Amino acid sequence: MKTLTLTKPDDWHIHVRNAAVLKTVLPHTAKQFGRAIIMPNLKPPVTTVADALNYREEILSALPDETQFEPLMTLYLTAQTELSEIKKAAESEFVHAFKMYPAGATTNSDAGVANICGIYPLLAELEKYDIPLLIHGEVTDPLSDIFDREHLFVKSTLTEIVDKFPNLRIVLEHVTTTEAVEFVLSAGPNIAATITPQHLLYNRNALLAGGIRPHYYCLPIIKRESHRQSLIKAATSGNPKFFLGTDSAPHLTHTKENACGCAGCFSAHAAIELYAEAFELANALDKLEGFASFYGADFYHLPRNTDTITLEKTPWSVPLSYGEDEIHITPLKAGEEINWKII
Ligand code: DOR
Ligand code: ZN
Repeated sequence: MKTLTLTKPDDWHIHVRNAAVLKTVLPHTAKQFGRAIIMPNLKPPVTTVADALNYREEILSALPDETQFEPLMTLYLTAQTELSEIKKAAESEFVHAFKMYPAGATTNSDAGVANICGIYPLLAELEKYDIPLLIHGEVTDPLSDIFDREHLFVKSTLTEIVDKFPNLRIVLEHVTTTEAVEFVLSAGPNIAATITPQHLLYNRNALLAGGIRPHYYCLPIIKRESHRQSLIKAATSGNPKFFLGTDSAPHLTHTKENACGCAGCFSAHAAIELYAEAFELANALDKLEGFASFYGADFYHLPRNTDTITLEKTPWSVPLSYGEDEIHITPLKAGEEINWKII
């Protein structure tokens, strides 16, 4: 039997939501990962250290017994964020980053930033305290083509932010394009990126060819094959600028199978297995541990995990749905087989 043992990985970008959805999805992440960067786009968003403390408690109390898992909290940056909140975050033990959503870019981003120049004093404060800024990198101009929104953001807004704040640590989250990969490669070591399993495994045909498949719809939207190839190359290159961030983003099935379906792929049920498939297809399983278990921790200035997980090459069928009662969440690869299984 082929097996693969890795230092326990961490997920550097995840949505675990709250209440009943949190209880449904969290055990999957806690089973595979030592830690995860928790996205703050709840309704209302997690904007203060006090909010993050409450949310962290809710997450810890939703963990199955005997589970070792550390939620790494983030705060949602808004035009109203106080400079003093950034200092408080720097002094807290459990807030590890701020997340910036351009207003209207994605799910629960209404409270995000409409005028990025307006928050430059906040970015200066993040730079001063050396707190990472996590960016959803898409322009929001309704006239811009949805397939160009990341590329346009990188070319304009991100280039300007990096110029103005050369020492700010930035994670360009869930990169999806050749242009974003090239930007990260050409920037200094303080600029990194996460990559999701869906963007490594699929191109936009999975979403749109032969019928519209809403469970492949996420933002930034899945792009054409040449971009997927760039992402595979980056993820399997052994370059520490690229690391694992699933962006697992559960939505109830009926809200995705809808005339106006929500953005987000739920991948936590099989996260590390999905990455193992993508790396194996690229003949690069030897590069998975750095990507999944080392580079993110190094970037966030946190110690690497010391325990391990083992995957076995045993095909298993993904259930059609997770959850009970009124909670139904359709996972990535629902009803299909995955070749690797965590043991
Ligand atoms: O597809 C996405 N879903 N992209 C995001 O940026 C947000 C996320 C969500 O919260 O559902
Ligand atoms: Zn996300």
